[in-house]
Order: sequence, then structure tokens, then C-alpha cells
Amino acid sequence: MFTILTGSQFGDEGKGKIVDLLAENYDIVVRFQGGDNAGHTVIVGDKTYKLHLTPSGVLFGARLLIGPGVVLNPKVLMSEIESLEAEGIEANLGIDAKTSIIMPYHIALDELRERGRKEKIGTTKRGIGYAYIDKFSRDEVQMKDLTDPALLEAKLDEIGPAREKAIADLGGDPSVVRDPVLIGEYLEIGRRLASRVADVSYEINVALDAGKKVLAEGAQGAFLDVIHGTQKFVTSSFTTAGSACANLGVGPARVDSVVGIVKAYMTRVGEGPMPTELKDEVGAHLSKVGKEFGTTTGRPRRCGWFDAVLAKKSMYLNGYTEIAITKLDVLGGLDPIKICTGYELDGEVLDYPPESTVEFARCQPLYEEIGGWTEDISGAKSYQALPEAVRNYVERIEALLGVKITIVSVGPGREQTVRRG
Ligand code: GDP
Ligand code: IMO
Ligand code: MG
Repeated sequence: MFTILTGSQFGDEGKGKIVDLLAENYDIVVRFQGGDNAGHTVIVGDKTYKLHLTPSGVLFGARLLIGPGVVLNPKVLMSEIESLEAEGIEANLGIDAKTSIIMPYHIALDELRERGRKEKIGTTKRGIGYAYIDKFSRDEVQMKDLTDPALLEAKLDEIGPAREKAIADLGGDPSVVRDPVLIGEYLEIGRRLASRVADVSYEINVALDAGKKVLAEGAQGAFLDVIHGTQKFVTSSFTTAGSACANLGVGPARVDSVVGIVKAYMTRVGEGPMPTELKDEVGAHLSKVGKEFGTTTGRPRRCGWFDAVLAKKSMYLNGYTEIAITKLDVLGGLDPIKICTGYELDGEVLDYPPESTVEFARCQPLYEEIGGWTEDISGAKSYQALPEAVRNYVERIEALLGVKITIVSVGPGREQTVRRG
């Protein structure tokens, strides 16, 4: 069985929590895109794990894979492996030989370019965009190259000068490209990771042939997608469900289900348009109660009402077969609750977002209102036990999306979840 799980908004929908929840039933959990710009939180009991690269199935001992469509910072991965080991958790992790490596010069270029932009993107400064540029220009260092000093040296001889020039042109220090200390650190990590190098496409296809269950864990969210998102305020990878097949080398006919993670309201970290953003006390409530600070950068996330116009587009982009809705508990105490069901753009009413980011930025949200609740729902044990107003909200969103909501999350903990048949 092959399941793909993706974020349906601007990232941070609670993918980590839901992957952890589902992982018990899967043999393999695999990341297929993005890098350590992702921050996926898993909370079990009094322990919190913030995972940037390790797939969120790690606590169940699933086979974990990092696919060749990921851009990998080996230092971040190594420190994640070490922190998990310190907690007594052994990650059974394989990394595809073709995975692109984020080199120190990618991080330098990301920082320098962002600094020089008049209109900033607000990237995580993890070198993501520049690592993908090098993949697509066929100038990347791959995981395999890290395991052999001769391969890495030959690669840097070939691609180093152009990167040194690019850094110097942006006013940076080009010595980062061939810095012997940094290269030594990378090679040492390569040596330690060598036994984990894998062929992810082969491993997944063989597992599926044997009747095993594979869960592909997306990073970011639909509107951070480099094609379908709100360019230029996007990440540099393909974040929608179809990308899992292409990036992992698994045929689309093998997909059994596609799970969308939907936060009960909107958040966005970094720049870019967000029609339902609230800068009032409701926004402050969502930020405070939802603890909306970036898992990777610690920046405050912008908050706003649920946007069903964007959600509809996300249903199309991903073809979800089921939905998990998260953070419903955070809406407690707000009355009424608003749902954006349309936009007004230049005097016209839209029920679907415009393609152009410039036009999207001018869209004004049109809201419908629904009754709120004041009860604390974070200990709910069943869907039926939830207050009627909560169920009304869930079922209204379900009707707007046209896809069954099967999982309702009412708190960050693994057990703070109710299933719907
Ligand atoms: P991801 O990037 O999609 O994995 O999401 P993040 O981990 O970056 O952000 C989601 C945050 O919300 C994390 O701190 C989670 O622990 C937390 N969270 C997830 N589900 C719920 C929920 O239902 N209620 C509350 N209050 N917090 C949640
Ligand atoms: P998870 O997987 C939220 C945002 C950044 C910035 C833009 C581009 O935790 O949901 P990048 O560093 O990727 O070039 O930054 O994308 N961004 C995220 N926002 N959640 C994420 O990941 C994100 N990964 C990148 O804030 O606006
Ligand atoms: Mg996150």
C-alpha cells in the first residue's frame, strides 16, 4: 500500500504529528522533497521531537528513507541522528545515493541573495533554493560523492570556480567553496553515513511488490510549491502529491491514498500574500494559543481565518482521498468563527484563487460565519463527544472541500486525536 501525505496550505499544518500517528501502520516512511527548511514536530508524552530531515515515523521504528528529490544538509542530519541516539532512538535510515547535498556555499548564496533583494522572500536561509538550482543545472554534489574524497574533489574542481564567482559577485567570501575545514567535516560525515546509502526507488518498489506499506511524507505545503504556489514567495521544490511519485520513482498507478493535512485556520511564515491574515486580537489569539512560531527559524507565523478558496485549489492540486484537520482546539473561545468562502477582486467575486500572485495579493476575503465554542476539547475521546459547534465547523469544512475528514486533531499530543469512520 502506498500513501502520500502532504500539507495543503503554507506549511506547518501538523504533518509531523499526523505522520507519527499513522506510522504505526507503515513499514517505510520516506521524505520526497524539500530539506531542513522543514520542521516537523512530534510530541509523545513529555517529549518533543523537532525533525528537519528524519522522517516522522522514527518513533515507531519504521524503515526511514530520504529520497533523491530531497536536498540534504549532512550536518543537520548528523546532529539529528545523534540527538535521537542520545534519547535511545535508533533511526533505521537510508539515504538515496543521488540525494543532492546542501553545501556551505548554497547557504552563503541563499543569505547573500536574500539580503540583496528589495522585496524579500523570507527564506529559511538553509540554502534550499541554491541546492535545487545546482540540481537542475546538473552541477550538484550528490550523497554518493560525499562518501569518496576523490569524487568530491573532482566535483568541486568542476563546479567550484563558478560558485566562487557567484559568491564574490554578491559581495560574499568565496573561500567558503573550498574551505578545507568545512570539506573535511562533510567528508567525515560522508564516511559515517556511507553504510546508509540506498537506492530508494528500488527499495520502495520491492517493498510494495512484497505487500508492504509505504508512507511518503511531504514537506512544506501546496502554496509553497514552486510551480503552483504564490511565486515568488515559495520554496524551490514540488510540494504537491504528484511530486512524490516523480521524486521517489514510483508509478502513479501504485498510489492507494492521498492524505491532506489541513490546519483549522491559516498560518504563513515568511513573506507573500495571505488574504485571510488577521492583525487584530483574533490573530493574536491564534498566534498565542496555537504557539505559532516557526519550528525551523523561530519566526512568528502570520495567522488568519481558514481559507476555503485556497483549500479547494489544494484539493485539485493534490487529489486528496482523505483529510486530517489539526489544531481545532486553538479556535476555542472565538465566536463567531469565520471561514473565507470567496474573494473579491476588482469588484468581481471569485470562488477560486487567481493564478497571478499580483492579483492574488489584491484579493479581499469574503466570509461566512459559524458559531464558536468555549469548551476545552483537548481531551476529547471521540468525535461524538465533541461539542456540536465543533462538529458543525468540521462538517462545514468537509462540505466545502468535498473530501472526507477522517482524523480530527485537538491537541499536539499523539493521543489528542479522534478518528471518524
Ligand atoms: P509540520 O511542519 O506540518 O509538521 O507542522 P509543525 O510541527 O511545524 O507545526 C505544527 C505545530 O502544531 C507543532 O508545534 C505541533 O506540535 C502542533 N500541533 C499539531 N497538531 C495540533 C493540534 O491539534 N493542536 C495543537 N494545539 N497543536 C497541534
Ligand atoms: P514544513 O515542512 C512553513 C517557507 C519559508 C519562506 C519560503 C521559502 O515545516 O511545513 P526556503 O527556505 O524554502 O527557500 O523558504 O518557504 N517555508 C516554510 N514555511 N513550513 C515549512 O516547512 C517551510 N519551508 C519553507 O518561510 O517563506
Ligand atoms: Mg513545520
